[in-house]
Amino acid sequence: EEDVYILAIESSCDETAAAVVKNGREVLSNVISSQIALHTLYGGVVPEIASRKHIEKINQVIEAALFEAGKSLKDMDAIGVTYGPGLVGALLVGVAEAKALAYGAKKPLVGVHHIEGHISANFIEHPDLEPPFLCLIVSGGHTHLVIVKDYGEFEILGRTRDDAAGEAFDKVARAVGLGYPGGPKIDKAAKEGNPHAIKFPRAKVEGNIYDFSFSGLKSAVLNHINHANMMGETIHVPDLAASFQNAVVDVLVSHTMEAAKEYGFTKIAIAGGVASNTALREGMKKACDKAGYSFYYPSPVYCTDNAAMIGTAAYYEYINGARAGWDLNAVPNLKL
Ligand code: KG4
Ligand code: ZN
Repeated sequence: EEDVYILAIESSCDETAAAVVKNGREVLSNVISSQIALHTLYGGVVPEIASRKHIEKINQVIEAALFEAGKSLKDMDAIGVTYGPGLVGALLVGVAEAKALAYGAKKPLVGVHHIEGHISANFIEHPDLEPPFLCLIVSGGHTHLVIVKDYGEFEILGRTRDDAAGEAFDKVARAVGLGYPGGPKIDKAAKEGNPHAIKFPRAKVEGNIYDFSFSGLKSAVLNHINHANMMGETIHVPDLAASFQNAVVDVLVSHTMEAAKEYGFTKIAIAGGVASNTALREGMKKACDKAGYSFYYPSPVYCTDNAAMIGTAAYYEYINGARAGWDLNAVPNLKL
């Protein structure tokens, strides 16, 4: 069998990333240029700034990815690119670049769904993991509980009705002055705090028991802060961070375990930026150990946005025959 090399490009939010992936699961290079420091000045991602920065960085990021892999464009079998969901201007930079490279080098083009990329991050370090399995995707923009039926074939069991899990982390962190991005800051502060110090609500959602809601929890945290301020009490940030995080993790773990039981899955994976959260990893591990399930999670670098995961997803799309046309366009609200 011939080896298959994919050059993958990711620019859906605030990371400009390129990677070379061999046969779907072997990462030869994974280059990420993060804009976080730039957006921190504004307390969150500014879409127009993100697009402009992607344009500045994308060529050197791709060159670095090929160089680190010891390959050139002509060695590639296909070019994979995230075309949605995400910020339209940011996505357009990657899509236009991928189309130009593919056209110029006469290579097939493969469009990749960003969430499929996050899920596929689990394949990189777990050679034994194959569908079907259950996957919880928790990022800054998404909270999905998904059955991975096969490569590129998904069934969504539940999703958030309001804020994404990462968005809740970011908003709570901002409210207590921890800055952006809030997830890692809350994670760190929580290590010094008591997760049972403050009782925050676990949202029950009407209708679909696998759906999530985090806006009520976020409001409860903000109310707690406002109340303390009004009473002239100081807020113990580590306790607040640990209690908030505990409430999020509780809901994420219980929904996932209920779905696993109901649908008979014994392989559970997590993905997305929030999947690097220490408490979520520990909580899921504990619950899976107790139930006798196998638990899979990517290294932190493959949890947050990267192009290696896009290369893995693109590989499975490619060998299944998926090819994008020259009319491939950014689709900001692309459905899974
Ligand atoms: O997957 P990602 O890089 O971008 C999206 O596709 O949205 O996820 C970014 C999100 C941010 O909200 C960030 O605060 C969160 O992931 N995050 C974390 C942690 N690391 C990143 N949330 C909780 N704990 C962490 N350790
Ligand atoms: Zn993402």
